[in-house]
Amino acid sequence: MEDLGEQERAVLELVKANPFAGQQEIAGMMGLARSTVAAHIVQLMQKGYILGRGYVLPASNRIVCLGGAVLDRQYRSLGPLVEDTSNLVHGSVSSGGVGRNVAENLARLGSEVSFLSVLGNDEAGRFLLAHLRDCGVDTSQSVISETQRTAEYIAILESSGALRHGLSDMAIFDEFTPAVVDRAWSHIGSATFIFADCNLPADTLSALLRRKQGSRARLAIDAVSMTKVARLPKDLTGVDLIFMNMAEAFAFLGEDRDAGSATLDDARNAARMLQSAGAAEAIVSLGAKGTAVSALDGHATYPAAKANPVDLTGAGDAMVAATLHRLIRGDGTMEAARHGILAGALTTECPTTIHPALSAAFLEANMVRMKA
Ligand SMILES: Nc1ncnc2c1ncn2[C@@H]1O[C@H](COP(=O)(O)OP(=O)(O)OP(=O)(O)O)[C@@H](O)[C@H]1O
Ligand SMILES: [Mg+2]
Repeated sequence: MEDLGEQERAVLELVKANPFAGQQEIAGMMGLARSTVAAHIVQLMQKGYILGRGYVLPASNRIVCLGGAVLDRQYRSLGPLVEDTSNLVHGSVSSGGVGRNVAENLARLGSEVSFLSVLGNDEAGRFLLAHLRDCGVDTSQSVISETQRTAEYIAILESSGALRHGLSDMAIFDEFTPAVVDRAWSHIGSATFIFADCNLPADTLSALLRRKQGSRARLAIDAVSMTKVARLPKDLTGVDLIFMNMAEAFAFLGEDRDAGSATLDDARNAARMLQSAGAAEAIVSLGAKGTAVSALDGHATYPAAKANPVDLTGAGDAMVAATLHRLIRGDGTMEAARHGILAGALTTECPTTIHPALSAAFLEANMVRMKA
């Protein structure tokens, strides 16, 4: 690339990050005249760095994930935590956010996946995006906020690992407005599957449901938490597949019940009720007790796959990702969900949010656990 000038190189980087960008858009981002950008592009074509323009057809099986990208910071006390003073801790940082986790899991499984979120113009945002790109996720549609910081979750743990304080700074997702979805619609609506999490504001979720009606894409949604599930419209018509854990399902259905004492029968009933609320298919998980699937191709409850759990973080996200990965490959929902349930169990067996060994081959090799 020694034969490229500084501006040519910058134009090329922008085109690589977003092959859909128009000359005017690139000119705006670089503070140049459109004609200058056009001249650079001609040069880049002559030098063989850009092959040409044309109609861009969607990849045959692409999934787009819309949702939270969060920097997870964990501080584990080295001794008993004492209030009102400083404590020695062991700190660690990792990538989180349901939408982000699902996107990374999908990429590791070999799906073609893009991720759309709002991140800050800060170190955390750059860290999260760079990591996703390294995993092969297309992040070109994500938006950088100039006013808000990248979302953060800070967990302060006792030396035993028990959570003492969880601090959640998610204000940036207020900027995940319907306009963000509108702007990226040609990219979103041409996907095979759209996955959204309930970190999106309520009006953005509703806008997504409305816009999706006319597209070929199928839509899956994960509830994220008991609080955020309230952002879903009561009428789930247009949702092809909804993922909730038992507590989220009880909250959505207005049942004032403790998920801790619920049974797989309760999960099954909840999944049916989510279908009555308009979702075409529903998967309700109940941790170690199992998962209920109510689908167009059947209804079943599955026990959890046998596992030796060390950390439950990320299990639900892996379950969602592996289910969607199999669905876009043509599996029926029951078979896809079995892969999801296995991926959830495998993820409990590692201390990280994403299983470091996850791949399609790794999942397949472990399917024997589901047959037992
Ligand atoms: N102890 C366990 N053993 C085996 N599998 C488990 C265990 N706990 C959870 N899973 C699996 O992980 C998946 C997620 O289930 P869970 O009900 O924990 O979802 P969740 O509460 O939404 O989790 P998350 O907080 O990660 O989103 C399910 O497929 C479930 O079978
Ligand atoms: Mg979950």
